[in-house]
Amino acid sequence: MKKFHVFTIFPQFFEGFINTGIVSRAVKNGIIQINTVNLRDYATDKHRTVDDVVYGGGPGMLLKPEPIFRAYEEILKNSKPYVLITEPWGRKFDQAFAQELSQKDEILIICGRYEGVDERVKSIVDEEVSIGDFVLSGGEPAALVIMDAVIRLIPGVVGDSDSLRADSFSDGLLGYPNYTRPPVFKGMEVPEILRSGNHKLIEIWRRWKQIENTLKKRPELLKQAKLSETDRKILQY
Ligand code: ADE
Repeated sequence: MKKFHVFTIFPQFFEGFINTGIVSRAVKNGIIQINTVNLRDYATDKHRTVDDVVYGGGPGMLLKPEPIFRAYEEILKNSKPYVLITEPWGRKFDQAFAQELSQKDEILIICGRYEGVDERVKSIVDEEVSIGDFVLSGGEPAALVIMDAVIRLIPGVVGDSDSLRADSFSDGLLGYPNYTRPPVFKGMEVPEILRSGNHKLIEIWRRWKQIENTLKKRPELLKQAKLSETDRKILQY
């Protein structure tokens, strides 16, 4: 069982995510649990304040440490999750990072805010994580992206494990093109090989297309990709 805790001031943001598609199915099947924690519920004053002004001056408001620590201590009574905080300068999230996280039993994601979080919160954080070099107004969309990418790697979540192996990035290459019916659409034909029923040939064609796609669209990925002898020969063409 994988458990996710999300600390946020916008728990409603996650409702659609939790109640839709493969995520909702994984929850219903008991494969994962998602616990969204409203930081306001852990505020210490009667106005349920979660943010405050910056010491030393400066624009915006920071998330206060007390609600975050109180919510964290509540979780620590039962378990010790791996703690992430979303930050634009964090470690860049990618498929390898998602694979790493999919091995953890329990993950806590603290949704940062663009103005920031009191620095003392970092004392409970294992890693700061960024979903790319751009600035979001809050960490919620980042937390959602991270959870989605991790959840689909958990065994039993995606019905057909072959489809995980066919994913772009799963072996460092982009995916191959796919087609469904009709065989001809607006004059565009499904490649003959894919309709041939020759599985060996289809496998070779797909690998060739993966390499071609990667070379055309993301050539820098080829340096790190796991390539076989045959792959290298294909690359030389
Ligand atoms: N918070 C603001 N921008 C972010 C980003 N790009 N990734 C993760 N968290 C963020």
